[in-house]
Amino acid sequence: MPVELSKRIKAIKPSPTLAITAKANALKAQGVDIIGFGAGEPDFDTPANIKQAAIGAINGGFTRYTAVGGTDALKDAIISKLNRDSVLSYRREQICVSCGAKHSLYNLFQVLCEEGDEVIIPVPYWVSYPDLVTLTGARPVILSTAEEDGFKVTPQNLEALITSKTKALVLNSPSNPTGCAYTDEELRALARVLIGTDIQIISDDIYEKLLYDGAHFCNLAMISETLKNQTIVVNGVSKAYAMTGWRIGYAAGNEEIISAMTKLQSQNTSNPTSIAQVAAQEALNGSQDEVYRMRDEFQNRRNYIVKALNAIDGVSCLLPAGAFYVFPNVSRLYGKSFNGKEVNSSAALTEFLLTEAKVAVVPGGEFGSDHHIRLSYATSMENIEKGVARIKEALGKLR
Ligand SMILES: Cc1ncc(COP(=O)(O)O)c(C=O)c1O
Repeated sequence: MPVELSKRIKAIKPSPTLAITAKANALKAQGVDIIGFGAGEPDFDTPANIKQAAIGAINGGFTRYTAVGGTDALKDAIISKLNRDSVLSYRREQICVSCGAKHSLYNLFQVLCEEGDEVIIPVPYWVSYPDLVTLTGARPVILSTAEEDGFKVTPQNLEALITSKTKALVLNSPSNPTGCAYTDEELRALARVLIGTDIQIISDDIYEKLLYDGAHFCNLAMISETLKNQTIVVNGVSKAYAMTGWRIGYAAGNEEIISAMTKLQSQNTSNPTSIAQVAAQEALNGSQDEVYRMRDEFQNRRNYIVKALNAIDGVSCLLPAGAFYVFPNVSRLYGKSFNGKEVNSSAALTEFLLTEAKVAVVPGGEFGSDHHIRLSYATSMENIEKGVARIKEALGKLR
């Protein structure tokens, strides 16, 4: 019997980054020596103190349902973290813990948006934002940025897109996929456009801890009390603490919105895993030494990969300020061919690199920018060296 799926689910696509990782893993399982630059997760192990806390939770029998929006102990750890790192103060009623920041974003868009609303998403964007918005019936409105501006939103471009239907703006700094990060001054300039509007600001701070060259983190909520009240901060432990599999993310902000998110969560997942909550609590309250160690290692890799990519003919790559991605421009290669097959898009180049270089990258088209490809340097230095050398050799075959 044919099944008629809902219009809602037919309107979205599967996460392309997860699909690329699955394709690379399938090839690896067949014995093909693939080097993967697709994964959006640290290659490091979760720090020992965090794992130990989770083991303690299991052995202590902390294995039952908890409060839907997270335990008081974890909410307090999040409140302390936001206060310590960003001088932002929140009450427990302003925090909802979910099964990863992606889940927090899902809940948030569901409770905020409906048909007729518009959500401004700067391009290049994290792959999930447009689909998460589309699922609500609202319309993603793509805000263009220029590579010359470091892929950052300018106040003029933002202002030009605001209409009476604008419900929210998503800002992700440091960014996936470009690694660009906003300075206080740049945020202040955007703030002047946003203050006085009723636009909800969604600040996706998941890469907050991965900022290089001594740069300090800033978001719109930190600019002023007015903006703080207009902003929902979304963050989690996945990227900073190498905890992608534990699935803990959170949102902080307006009590009414948080309460609605908690209500929605009570009707789908209920609480995030009790054991993972204890682990996240340790991540936030415990020593941060491992975070800095991982960050410094990512910085070394970033320096190497940017230099190596820029040494390839036809490739140019900005130096990202944070996160663990590079987003090189490869458009000068378009129009060239190999074995009679023309490379004319980021998807075609990705396919070429997978077959000819045995290297998995993500096409920039998935992030709204077809002139680029995304490489994650959350992989060993050895893989980076080998992988970039393979890319160089393969691209050298294009005529
Ligand atoms: C920009 C951005 N936001 C949110 C997430 C979701 O992180 P998680 O659900 O693992 O907390 C990711 C993961 O790739 C991301 O890149």
